[in-house]
Amino acid sequence: YEDPLDLMDEIERLKVERDASILAHYYVDGEIQDIADYVGDSLKLARDATNVKTSTIVFSGVHFMAESAKIMNPEKRVLIPDLLAGCSLADSCPPDKLAAFQEKLRAEGHDFETVAYINTSAAVKSLCDWIVTSGNARELIEQKVPRDKEILFVPDQHLGRYLMEVTGREMILWPGSCMVHEIFSLQDMLRAKRKNPGSQVLAHPECPENILHAADFVGGTEKMRRHVASISEPTTFLVATEVNMIHPLKLAAPQHEFVPVPGIMADSGETCACNRCPHMARNTLQKVRDCLRDGQPEIEWQSYFDRAREVLERSLLN
Ligand code: 13P
Ligand code: SF4
Repeated sequence: YEDPLDLMDEIERLKVERDASILAHYYVDGEIQDIADYVGDSLKLARDATNVKTSTIVFSGVHFMAESAKIMNPEKRVLIPDLLAGCSLADSCPPDKLAAFQEKLRAEGHDFETVAYINTSAAVKSLCDWIVTSGNARELIEQKVPRDKEILFVPDQHLGRYLMEVTGREMILWPGSCMVHEIFSLQDMLRAKRKNPGSQVLAHPECPENILHAADFVGGTEKMRRHVASISEPTTFLVATEVNMIHPLKLAAPQHEFVPVPGIMADSGETCACNRCPHMARNTLQKVRDCLRDGQPEIEWQSYFDRAREVLERSLLN
């Protein structure tokens, strides 16, 4: 066991020594967010990565995020505290399966563009026309995807269904889902709402339809943060997203109370603390220190990153 305060001091010292900046997603432990140079949602962090001045980036998040940071900054060294920090959404859409499905659709005469959620591997991004995040999906689809094209949306079926609803566009959906957002308990959420009159439910669009329809506000993590900060009246918010999100919400709006919505286990029907993403949880202060000290694990450049870069840049930087 190492004292978190000692680790924080050591990380601060190593950051200077190794000319490194730390980027952290809102879903990692609050203490990592506190020592990061940039904290944000997927969209903000992808953009922040292009403004980093140091030669090394430590990406405290999951693999596809660190990969995107590397793709946008080929000349920088991008480290990730744990290479095994994956994502159930990204895993649900392997590149060979996607390529075969696109081929099948083309053979059937479909004239489509592929829109991928950023929660995909770079190999999948390289097969797509557009990359969206929860922060820009609606706007990008409305402004950039030609209306005379069909849309194949991968890999999150719930976000895709929600986007069909808000944009009015028909989409062919890939059957992926997020292991955290898929299992919020509607009943527990509705009971908590009854017990807290005047409370508001905040839900991430990765949640299924029944949760989104019962929510007062639907938005990605940065949109949630801005929403709570815009309300001055002290309010209770029931939060249907990864539980570490409560850390930045409290910082942005300390006048409110934030209550996590519990998850429910499909096999036993019991509520659980499964609103923590096990992949994000692989990030610890100790591993951040280790990767700064050792200069690895590192995201290595792959041949398909060039094509993924074109898609990411035209989607996120304009
Ligand atoms: P955002 O932070 O972009 O809303 O995404 C949430 C998420 O699930 C990241 O894995
Ligand atoms: Fe992936 Fe879900 Fe974890 Fe986000 S919360 S990294 S979508 S598994």
